[in-house]
Amino acid sequence: MSGHTAREVDLSVDLGSLELSNPVMSASGTFGYGDEDPELTQVRALGALVTKTVTLNPRAGNPPPRLCETPAGLLNSIGLQNVGIQTFAREILPRLQDLGPPVIVSVGGSTADDYARCAEILDRVECAALELNISCPNVASGLEFSRSPAEAAKVVRGVRRRTKRPIFAKLSPNVTDIVAVGRACVEEGADGLVAVNTFLGMAVDVEREQPVLPRVVGGLSGPAIRPLALCRVWELARCLPCPVIGVGGIVTARDALEFLLAGARAVQIGTANFREPARGAKVVAGLRTLLDEKGVNRLRDFVGRLRLPPTEVS
Ligand SMILES: Cc1cc2nc3c(=O)[nH]c(=O)nc-3n(C[C@H](O)[C@H](O)[C@H](O)COP(=O)(O)O)c2cc1C
Repeated sequence: MSGHTAREVDLSVDLGSLELSNPVMSASGTFGYGDEDPELTQVRALGALVTKTVTLNPRAGNPPPRLCETPAGLLNSIGLQNVGIQTFAREILPRLQDLGPPVIVSVGGSTADDYARCAEILDRVECAALELNISCPNVASGLEFSRSPAEAAKVVRGVRRRTKRPIFAKLSPNVTDIVAVGRACVEEGADGLVAVNTFLGMAVDVEREQPVLPRVVGGLSGPAIRPLALCRVWELARCLPCPVIGVGGIVTARDALEFLLAGARAVQIGTANFREPARGAKVVAGLRTLLDEKGVNRLRDFVGRLRLPPTEVS
């Protein structure tokens, strides 16, 4: 055994009152409810588990095809298929508690009141935090509340009144000013922000002269969006005081370091799970090695350490 092992690096982070052993989480909707084969996913290694979005009532989701590969990316139009909050809380959530990592439940809704009612139900059961999906581009009722600061604020306000648990608002990148939306959420009591959900995109089948996805547009994810997501995370982290959780195109530990340097307190792995279900666990191991190589003992000292050129205008 070498005297200088990567295992010495302290990867723990805090997201307000929520302490995580490391900053790597699953991204909502890309890891099932979180209880896929634990051997395959190595879920125990993750800092936290984020479930797929659960809504007040069950949803069947959108008709197929729901996925379309694009250069370095994936277009999806799943449409929030889920069993509904009651069945989730009764039958699925208890199983997730045994997996090890803290469980963050992603909540969606068609109205602000839907979110509040879900929060009330979750307040009566065990879970670490709520992630409010106010940014799904794939549903007809328009769940992209985070396209407007006022609408986003309304959702967070309603949930804040019903729960003491940490609330993270997941933002849409499909806006002109993401900081304005983030600020509105924080002012209403969000403990942190998750940036970002998928970018609106579309693909056309040239032979059939039709859109590939039945709803025409879908959400773009994967490495194609990484620089775009990183930029949004940086903007939020430099302007707002709350923890920011970075998500978008992260595949490797090096990708994760980009987000952490830019100010993200934690990261989520999404599309990369489809190719390799244990990607998140590998990113955790890779972070230890890379930070150790850089001589960093505590991740907390590294977050936001981006060295800006002197010409950077603030
Ligand atoms: C197939 C698929 C399903 C998704 N479902 C959800 C969801 O239910 N709730 C949510 O908040 N985000 C959902 N997302 C968005 C991801 O959580 C993530 O924000 C986005 O994909 C960007 O990260 P990535 O490039 O690492 O995938 C989904 C993404 C994909 C690809």
